[in-house]
Order: sequence, then structure tokens, then C-alpha cells
Amino acid sequence: MDFLELVKSRYSCRSYQPASIEAEKLDYVMECVRFAPSAVNRQPWRFRVITDADALKTLCQCYRRDWLATAPAVIIASVLHDEEWVRFDGKHHGDIDVAIAVEHLCLAAAEQGLGTCWVCNFDAPLCHSLFSLPENEDPVALVPIGYPADTPKEKTRKTREQIS
Ligand SMILES: Cc1cc2nc3c(=O)[nH]c(=O)nc-3n(C[C@H](O)[C@H](O)[C@H](O)COP(=O)(O)O)c2cc1C
Repeated sequence: MDFLELVKSRYSCRSYQPASIEAEKLDYVMECVRFAPSAVNRQPWRFRVITDADALKTLCQCYRRDWLATAPAVIIASVLHDEEWVRFDGKHHGDIDVAIAVEHLCLAAAEQGLGTCWVCNFDAPLCHSLFSLPENEDPVALVPIGYPADTPKEKTRKTREQIS
């Protein structure tokens, strides 16, 4: 599979098989996360892989969609605000760094035959409190991951002319 095929094969998976993910596949995906670039190489992130059934149930309180509960694992991707690079004009770059690493995650997972979905429309303050996260750790996205139980919808995208 070339890179374009990989990019096109990734989609937002919103239904998962119950099977857990092989440890080697999860390690591979996390290795791809680890090598993501970041501003000034700060790597201002934390990726908590939640697989425990009770913890997953707790996490589902932060995003009340039945499909999330089908995922055998959900990764909480957080920015560490005390480690992120801040430009001279005050622009914080941690969210950008985390976004790049999350997309590494999603593409690596797709290559391994795993589904993922970016979830940002969740209750981040609730997640922070339910998981007793440290003060500097700010959850940016939840990423369910597992073997897909659905099929991708047709992709709608802007044309080349519209984006350049
Ligand atoms: C930053 C970001 C936040 C997103 N948040 C959510 C979300 O909260 N819930 C959800 O179901 N999908 C979410 N998505 C998935 C988008 O809806 C999806 O990527 C888009 O519709 C394109 O579809 P595709 O991923 O299947 O190509 C998010 C995607 C991104 C990049």
C-alpha cells in the first residue's frame, strides 16, 4: 500500500469488534506516535491507553455515544501545557503537536488494519477529573481503536482547485 492508498483507507470508524488489539500492533502504533515531529521537539504530550473495562465505562461518560462503548481500547491524547512551545507572540503550539501525533496514530492503525476515530467533542474537564489527571495535562482528543465492525462511507473532500 502506498502512502496515498493508506491515507484514503483511513476513515472515522464508529463501530468496533470486541476483539482486543494484539500487543505488538499497539506497540507499533505507539512507536509511530513517539516519532511524530513537534515544535522545538518538545513532545508536549501524553497518550494514555485505556483498555480496562471499568475505565472504558468511566470514559464513556465523557462522550455519550453508544458506539464509543464498542471500542476495546480508547487512547486519551493530552497536551502538557508546561512543556509546549510558545511563540514570541504568545501562540501556543501544543495542540498542533498533539494533532500531528494523533494523525500518526490513526494512519499507523489503518496500516495495521485497525480502525480509529478522532473524538474532540467530548467533556474534557470531566475526563480530567474522572481520571484524576495532573494539572498540566489537558485532554485534546479521545481516540477509540480496534478492529472495525463497520465500513467506510464515501469520502467527500474539497477539490484541488478549492484548496489551492
Ligand atoms: C479534530 C477532529 C475532531 C473530530 N471530532 C469528532 C467527534 O467528536 N466525534 C466524531 O464522531 N467524529 C469526530 N471527528 C471525525 C470527523 O467527523 C471526520 O474525520 C470527518 O467527517 C471526515 O471523515 P473521515 O474521517 O471518515 O474521512 C473529528 C475529526 C477531527 C479531525
